[in-house]
Amino acid sequence: MIETGAAHIGRRPILVAMIAIALTAFLAIGLVSSRSIAAEPEAPSPAAIGYLPSIGDLMIETIQPRHERLWRAEQEGNWDFAAYELRALRGAFDRLGRSHPTDQQISLPQMISSVTEQPFKELNSAIQAKNGTAFAKAYADLTDACNSCHQALNHGVVEIRVPTRTSPSDLNATD
Ligand code: HEC
Repeated sequence: MIETGAAHIGRRPILVAMIAIALTAFLAIGLVSSRSIAAEPEAPSPAAIGYLPSIGDLMIETIQPRHERLWRAEQEGNWDFAAYELRALRGAFDRLGRSHPTDQQISLPQMISSVTEQPFKELNSAIQAKNGTAFAKAYADLTDACNSCHQALNHGVVEIRVPTRTSPSDLNATD
């Protein structure tokens, strides 16, 4: 009996060592897998999915800067960049309409296409033809389209203009 007891006690350090090894391996696997998860693009948090930028936010972040860049691209004679910005501006309007289907009971996608379709077509032809005069006319028409929607939706105070060399902003309220 005593012998068995001694043998039992004698085996204990081995058992402890085995548990320690198993735990270390477990932790190591955990570390590696958490690293590989961290290397993946992070999934958006529920809070991020729930945040919808307002129409005004999207105007400032996605529409206005592209309207200005489009003008600058043409001024620099960079027709490829103008074509790129025109596509980007159309895409931004599409996303705006999809994320805000209505405003004051008016369909935003319909409103967008009714005012921008013609100027976008003219801008596209002007850019393809590298025609500065046609571009200037189409760009002025697009700028009128911005303002006609602002007026229709009771935001006439947001007056968009064609930028100038000395004042590259497209907002009439500034400089
Ligand atoms: C289909 C309608 C529509 C069109 C087209 C449109 N906008 Fe707007 N825009 C709005 C509305 C609505 C607001 C007001 C949003 C608010 O305050 O809730 C706005 C606001 C703005 C603002 C002010 C945002 C702020 O919070 O200060 C800017 C700048 C702007 N628009 C730029 C433009 C430009 C540039 C164009 C043309 C390339 C354009 N918008 C075309 C509907 C439109």
